[in-house]
Amino acid sequence: MTVDIRPLAVDDLPALSRFLTAGFHTPDDAEFAAVDVLRWKYLEPARPEPRSLVAIDEVGAIVGHVGLVPTAFAGPGLSAPVPALHMIDWLGSREHRSVGASLMRRAHEAAPVQFGLGGSDAGRSVIRRGGYEPMPPVTVHGRILSPLRWLRAGGASPRQAARAARDLARRLARPPRPATVRLELDPIPSFGPEALDVVAAASRHAVVTARTPERLDALLRYPRRPASAYLFRSPDGRACGLAILATLPRGRTTLGRVVDLLLDDADAETWHAALLLASAELKRLGADSAQAFASPPWTTEALRRAGFQMRHPLDFSLRDRRALLPRDAPTYLTPIEADYAFG
Ligand SMILES: CC(C)(COP(=O)(O)OP(=O)(O)OC[C@H]1O[C@@H](n2cnc3c(N)ncnc32)[C@H](O)[C@@H]1OP(=O)(O)O)[C@@H](O)C(=O)NCCC(=O)NCCS
Repeated sequence: MTVDIRPLAVDDLPALSRFLTAGFHTPDDAEFAAVDVLRWKYLEPARPEPRSLVAIDEVGAIVGHVGLVPTAFAGPGLSAPVPALHMIDWLGSREHRSVGASLMRRAHEAAPVQFGLGGSDAGRSVIRRGGYEPMPPVTVHGRILSPLRWLRAGGASPRQAARAARDLARRLARPPRPATVRLELDPIPSFGPEALDVVAAASRHAVVTARTPERLDALLRYPRRPASAYLFRSPDGRACGLAILATLPRGRTTLGRVVDLLLDDADAETWHAALLLASAELKRLGADSAQAFASPPWTTEALRRAGFQMRHPLDFSLRDRRALLPRDAPTYLTPIEADYAFG
């Protein structure tokens, strides 16, 4: 059985949506695979290089797909960002053994460095065989913002009520500490060149993805719900960080996600102040709980001081065949990578 691998075309979107919801065993109207969301992920804004590859069989049916999230890493000692990519919505039909691996090899041609964040057991085992190496995990942290709403939403069953009560007890056991650094959260309509300065400064301390204003603005155009953009400002008015926040319905509660947060220093006190501001803003936007990613020690410590608790780790693996990235600095990844921003 021969398959043809080619870039996704706009006419493929309805068939791709059906292929993904069937293969990932989700409802037909699952948001991650809705036609408008797929168009936003893969076709907008239009670029010469494809962000999605489909494998097509002899009769023209989709039998495999891989989405590419192109990015670039900046870090200590790097003179220019190193292009990198993460694969998402990666699926092969069971009837076409190894079509997923073929798509992976084609995807790898698009950037010299590739990485995986989270993913399924099948995906992790195939990328391990493809040369990805395990790195320290990214950790997902949560904080309850509205204890009573959370408790009420726990539901009627004794198990749900017990879970809600446990979460509440945890929150009360570890209240957030007040900030010791003064920062302001400044809402902005879109990102400008300040984002590049924040990335340049942050990359002196950690390997971070080189956020461009265009990439950050594309996140603000998610078709299903709004995301808000901010700059953090120090008392002298200087932009010292950036954030994207979003609220996502989760059953009877609303999750507030720190979709992105980057500061120009590696000081846990400043990150702590920024996380308190982000949490308060998420609460104002209607969130009952807040979620944020961490990995470098100062981000983990700041989350702890801001009242967050570690919920679970996400496997992080890296394929850097030419050793282009520094290995002596921690990597900082946020939900803008992979497909975690709005999922
Ligand atoms: C990850 C994936 C794309 C790799 O594709 P591939 O290289 O063509 O996979 P292979 O045909 O070599 O099979 C690798 C394993 O995945 C399993 N697999 C293949 N297609 C699958 C599918 N559509 N659903 C579930 N499992 C699948 C195979 O049974 C095999 O498991 P085994 O080693 O225990 O027999 C493919 O496994 C897949 O589609 N998995 C389901 C979706 C998924 O997990 N995506 C990755 C998200 S990170």
